[in-house]
Amino acid sequence: MTDTESARSFLGSDFEKYRQTLNNAIHSDEEYLNAINKYVLGSRGKEIRPILSLLAGLACGKLTEQNYCCAAATEMLHTATLMHDDVADSASMRRGILSVSAMFSAPAAVLTGDFWLARSLNLLVDRCDKQIVLNFSEAIRKMSEGELLQLDKADKLDTDEDDYFRIIYGKTAALFEASLKSAAMASGADSLCTDCITSYAEHVGLAFQIKDDIMDYTPGLDTGKLPGADLKERKITLPLIGAMKNAPEQSSAVIAKISTIEDIFSKETTQQEAQIMAEVSDFVARNKGIDYAAQKLSTQIGLAVDSLTPLPPSRAKEFLTGFAEYVGKRGR
Ligand code: IPE
Ligand code: IPE
Ligand code: MG
Ligand code: MG
Repeated sequence: MTDTESARSFLGSDFEKYRQTLNNAIHSDEEYLNAINKYVLGSRGKEIRPILSLLAGLACGKLTEQNYCCAAATEMLHTATLMHDDVADSASMRRGILSVSAMFSAPAAVLTGDFWLARSLNLLVDRCDKQIVLNFSEAIRKMSEGELLQLDKADKLDTDEDDYFRIIYGKTAALFEASLKSAAMASGADSLCTDCITSYAEHVGLAFQIKDDIMDYTPGLDTGKLPGADLKERKITLPLIGAMKNAPEQSSAVIAKISTIEDIFSKETTQQEAQIMAEVSDFVARNKGIDYAAQKLSTQIGLAVDSLTPLPPSRAKEFLTGFAEYVGKRGR
């Protein structure tokens, strides 16, 4: 298994070049914006997407200047979507500290997210081939569509497994896909290698979100986010879908319970909501919803690893394989 620390030390100066590219790109002359940026950069995430992007480039060829831009643009876009996401989800905690919207304000989070989004696109347009810019702009479209589908489904409370996979492909896997595909292209990969990496990225991205959704049902983890947030947002995720498949006769009663959570935009969890969340978690546990999701997670990890088969052997390829296993086991 590869964790982020060992991958970073393997990447060495390539990781530093990506960091430098990102730091330069988000500089602004506006004092307030720089204060918010400093806060954001003071608590970095796991940087999984840029790590994978650099590994993908190395597994396919030699890193070029475009690779550092792809890695930086990926993390910037991801960070922008987190700022927006915490407004959309009324989430007060992110990366173990107050979210930008809770610390500053919702408008500040939306506008700072816009700035990070704009700067990531600037960087790509300025320094990368048109196809790479297209890959990323497609990912942004898919993310918006995935998030809106999720919102619609939270309202209707009728998410089935196909809907769930469409949602997580759009909101999470599409960015992994664009990022790694672009990295392969930037390092001069042929179309076979590019296709292998794209397929790997899609499956790792799906696995990543399934694991995240399992963790939301796992109390006691130090994820840097508040647990149980998905139900509070009326999100029907894979553990619950699995439990309802295992106990179909109880599904409508469970959905009826969740439907009483009305205000998904309030930060506070009422006592009544906490009670519903505890009951639904209990239903998921009793009906093996976590096992169901874990099975699907392991299928995606297997598909990710298999996608790499045609790539020539290399240390970077070994790291990519190890990383797929890490995604399934991570606790943060
Ligand atoms: C959080 O992504 C959003 C999801 C897709 C679940 P990460 O878990 O990669 O977030 P950071 O960047 O490490 O905080
Ligand atoms: C993750 O959304 C994907 C994006 C940020 C677009 P979630 O809302 O599921 O992720 P967390 O739990 O807030 O990290
Ligand atoms: Mg969200
Ligand atoms: Mg969220």
